[in-house]
Amino acid sequence: MAVTGNTHGFAQQDQQAQQAPRFDIYVRIHKALRAFMADTLLRVGRTDTDDEAELRGSLSQVRDLLSACEQHLHKENDYVHAAMEARVPGSTTRIAHEHETHMAEIRALRALTDRVGAVPAARADAIRELYRQLSLFVAENYEHMHFEETRHNAVLWASHTDMELLDIENRIVASLPQETVGVIARWMLPNVTPAERALMLAGIRDNAPAEAFTGLLDVCRTLLPMPDWMKLTRALGLPSGPTQAVWAAG
Ligand SMILES: [Fe+2]
Repeated sequence: MAVTGNTHGFAQQDQQAQQAPRFDIYVRIHKALRAFMADTLLRVGRTDTDDEAELRGSLSQVRDLLSACEQHLHKENDYVHAAMEARVPGSTTRIAHEHETHMAEIRALRALTDRVGAVPAARADAIRELYRQLSLFVAENYEHMHFEETRHNAVLWASHTDMELLDIENRIVASLPQETVGVIARWMLPNVTPAERALMLAGIRDNAPAEAFTGLLDVCRTLLPMPDWMKLTRALGLPSGPTQAVWAAG
């Protein structure tokens, strides 16, 4: 398991990250992943293995989570690490190694997930093991993401402009299959701040097809608590009624 340092080390890294008002390529996707991981772990922990539909739903969410994690680490390798290594050779060694470990863990968790679904008589034991192993995976990833948000950001901010970092993020988003964008949006939009959410939606409204904007607005309308929905519509200058009317009015 990855250990990023002592408490003093954490404080120093946090201070570094907080002092710099720079574009943070990790913040929103990591909030999405933290939420997805936490929700999935808790869902597995409360799953009734005698309820077929409930079990299927939980295992399906685990598989979706593992696919999202796999895709995320590949995008970090191909886009973020490539940019870092081009300007600061050796700066991604530790995290690249952890990504290899995570891939092996993802494969093991997939096999464990299949096992829960495959042997009805042993489901209770198998899902308990899945819960334990998934909790270790989540714990490792929380530490891993903290290291990226502090140490990797320090490298990125010293070696790249905000425009360059934004370009990297845009290229990552453009490379994602539509299905993946939908899954990420479902976990990202309810779990970022109102200001981050409004900025994302405004960017989509200004730069993407109308269907993309109305689709994400629908996600927000379905998932956000009413106060957050009101903040979003206010920030976007839209009425807070049905999405279709909102778009027509916009
Ligand atoms: Fe990573």
